[in-house]
Amino acid sequence: MDIEEEIRSLQLDSSEDNNGVVNPEAAKLEQIEESDKMDVVKEISAPEDIEGPEDAEGDKKRHLNVVFIGHVDAGKSTTGGQILFLSGQVDDRTIQKYEKEAKDKSRESWYMAYIMDTNEEERVKGKTVEVGRAHFETETTRFTILDAPGHKSYVPNMISGASQADIGVLVISARKGEFETGYERGGQTREHVQLAKTLGVSKLLVVVNKMDDPTVNWSKERYDEIESKMIPFLRSSGYNVKKDVHFLPLSGLVGLNMKTRVDKSLCSWWNGPCLFEALDAIEVPFRDPKGPFRMPIIDKFKDMGTVVMGKVESGSVREGDSLLVMPNKAQVKVFAVYCDENKVKLAGPGENVRVRLSGIEEEDIISGFVLSSIAKPIPAVYEFVAQLQILELLDNAIFTAGYKAVLHIHSIVEECEIIELLQQIDPKTKKPMKKKVLFVKNGAVVVCRIQVNNLICIEKFSDFPQLGRFTLRTEGKTVAMGKVTDLNSASST
Ligand code: GTP
Ligand code: MG
Repeated sequence: MDIEEEIRSLQLDSSEDNNGVVNPEAAKLEQIEESDKMDVVKEISAPEDIEGPEDAEGDKKRHLNVVFIGHVDAGKSTTGGQILFLSGQVDDRTIQKYEKEAKDKSRESWYMAYIMDTNEEERVKGKTVEVGRAHFETETTRFTILDAPGHKSYVPNMISGASQADIGVLVISARKGEFETGYERGGQTREHVQLAKTLGVSKLLVVVNKMDDPTVNWSKERYDEIESKMIPFLRSSGYNVKKDVHFLPLSGLVGLNMKTRVDKSLCSWWNGPCLFEALDAIEVPFRDPKGPFRMPIIDKFKDMGTVVMGKVESGSVREGDSLLVMPNKAQVKVFAVYCDENKVKLAGPGENVRVRLSGIEEEDIISGFVLSSIAKPIPAVYEFVAQLQILELLDNAIFTAGYKAVLHIHSIVEECEIIELLQQIDPKTKKPMKKKVLFVKNGAVVVCRIQVNNLICIEKFSDFPQLGRFTLRTEGKTVAMGKVTDLNSASST
């Protein structure tokens, strides 16, 4: 059976929530490690003219984090830049300056991307490296845009961006040949979709970009072709295409079908919404603000105390709270909570926040630690049991006890080793097979024990999907995806 078929039949997830799968082809191992250390997010716009986040009274606009994903050069940064321009955050003079700078670098058409690509390296190469973070708002929603890099060397940065997101905008280039390259096996259109699903991006807006390109010219045939090829793939990646995915045509460079609908004289066949309308209409699953507090730490720094950054995955945090930093069980007090640049009294699930703490030194925190409630702290383990879907192993190797890989689970990047294969799952019946399993190959579904050298804080997938789903990567390739089914109580705290 085709691997994608098997993944679909695996149904890793509950029906409403997320399933996830991943495809190989990606960055080098060294880069994974490097990206763990470097600051992978760059702040683009200070959200001065944007309304403050939801406060204790909860009467403001809702807030959504949206990650832009897709193959290299699909137009993610251009579309993100255009959004900022159309929402009045970048003036004409700045655009003219970027036009000149882009021209000087022989990258004329890249000027819109320069709004998001602020580093010199990014501008010279025309490729996003660090995730760009910017803000804008529509009628109903305050959005934080996370502009991920498409190049395969920077997949770890994309993972970090997607793990902060609620929804995704998958940008696909309609230009002749470009859709095809991104969609091929090993292309990042596939890998990004599969990673996004694994990382909990529950809804996707698929934008078919570059519709203005001379090879496309707003052709309905080209649009339909791309949509019809993407639908089965999205389905096999675990997305419910009817409920969770919407398509629309777009030109990020020219800015068409973005803030207002594309003119009928240009695109007579499109009767659907424009990008802003579609983003406005997206509904995300309810998250319980009263659940036990969980915030994986993605970064930390010193600033009048210790400041930690991350996304609240469960519960709420407010000034004055006492919490635990896990796994080192350090009791801390919350001095202040910030959403974007704004100080807030309370932040609920889904918010990306900075929390100023007292009671812990910055050097005692490592990204991957979890800020957690005291009453119900997150478990910390050296070992866990997981159900794994093997994708493609390097050189078609066999997967057996002793296999080593890099584990990516919420903000944790940690070396791990497979200790024991427990059961192989029959993909047809989804039941464990009787015979003892010593090794498996590509495409297998297997339950196994996994060990790490340092204590890690994770949850069972059935309790907290966001903190219990993971990927395994080897030498920069995603080789397996899985869910935590059991935590080893002997080593949990
Ligand atoms: P990475 O960050 O490297 O993954 O690329 P990206 O997806 O951010 O693409 P980027 O926005 O840098 O654009 C890549 C190239 O595509 C640039 O030359 C853009 O001008 C061009 N481009 C982007 N959107 C459009 C569009 O709507 N129409 C046309 N004709 N070209 C576009
Ligand atoms: Mg980019």
